[in-house]
Amino acid sequence: MADKKVIAVVGATGLQGGGLVGAILSDKSSGFAPRAITRKVNSEKALSLAKLGIEVVAADLDNPESLKKAFAGAYGAFCVTNFWEHFLPEKELAQATAMAQAAKHADLKHVVWSTLEDTRKWVPLSDNRMPTLMGKYKVPHFDSKGEADPVFTKLGVPTTFLLTSFYWDNFIYFGVGPKKGPDGELAITFPMGNKKLPGIAAEDIGKCSYGIFKKDRDYIGKTVGIAGEHLTGAQMAVAFSKTLEQEVRYNDVPPEVYRGFGFPGAEDLGNMFQFKRDFNDVFCGARNLDITRALNPSLQTFDRWLAQNKGRIPLE
Ligand SMILES: NC(=O)c1ccc[n+]([C@@H]2O[C@H](COP(=O)([O-])OP(=O)(O)OC[C@H]3O[C@@H](n4cnc5c(N)ncnc54)[C@H](OP(=O)(O)O)[C@@H]3O)[C@@H](O)[C@H]2O)c1
Repeated sequence: MADKKVIAVVGATGLQGGGLVGAILSDKSSGFAPRAITRKVNSEKALSLAKLGIEVVAADLDNPESLKKAFAGAYGAFCVTNFWEHFLPEKELAQATAMAQAAKHADLKHVVWSTLEDTRKWVPLSDNRMPTLMGKYKVPHFDSKGEADPVFTKLGVPTTFLLTSFYWDNFIYFGVGPKKGPDGELAITFPMGNKKLPGIAAEDIGKCSYGIFKKDRDYIGKTVGIAGEHLTGAQMAVAFSKTLEQEVRYNDVPPEVYRGFGFPGAEDLGNMFQFKRDFNDVFCGARNLDITRALNPSLQTFDRWLAQNKGRIPLE
């Protein structure tokens, strides 16, 4: 253990970071050891990590000094923020900045920053095809992550910028699973037209991150996009129908209708899907399936993920 390179894993109790911890642990010959970073060292999840012999360290992204201590002595760090806990892009940028500064302070050799595109590079605020949100964003939870990228670069932190994809786990946790319409038929609803949505099993994000740490020299300073498959709404509906053994339709709605659904974050997500639809070549092109599979040879397809998770998907 002592000679292993320590990776401080932010979000170790969550989906992305948890996937990385699992990937390191399942490789018995790994040269890395995870250090789980959490605000709540006594939570059920944190205690279960500690039980596995993992070092669990308390830190809060809103407390830069705690992060500096948590990163000290580590070789690298996996950095992720959770926008959906507060819905505040400025807070997300501040948290990412605190991680970059702590990484610099600890002289880390490799950081994987889980980021997304700053969509304003393609859709400037003056572009009225989608509304500007919160005064200066098009897709707040994307834009603030992308805005943080240069912070890592300017501080000289050796960073891999990891562009993630829509988790298929959203069908379990995020309320986007098949729902019964007025006709009683199940449907999934996205404003994607016939364009492809890059998707991935959340745990594969962690496995890919592990692949990046293993090949660090190849990836430092690079942006890497990952996805398990690029599928249209219609293709996902076919996969659902086959696996659930009942008809699931794809309900394509205009982005403005999606933005008006009224749930928290509906406008942000409506703009996000519209960005993915209207810049589909750019968005899919940034998430190469062969590179993803090279990083993580056990990469799941949507069919395989569905077969393993069908019992966990609420059908409302
Ligand atoms: N859903 C999708 O399709 C999708 C796709 C791409 C990217 N994303 C992005 O993924 C991010 C969420 O990642 P996830 O799904 O892995 O999260 P998650 O499963 O919801 O877990 C959140 C993790 O973040 C940690 N955390 C949150 N605030 C923290 C703070 N102030 N200090 C320290 N740790 C903190 C939590 O740790 P403790 O509670 O233990 O402290 C927990 O481990 C979001 O920013 C989202 O935009 C989502």
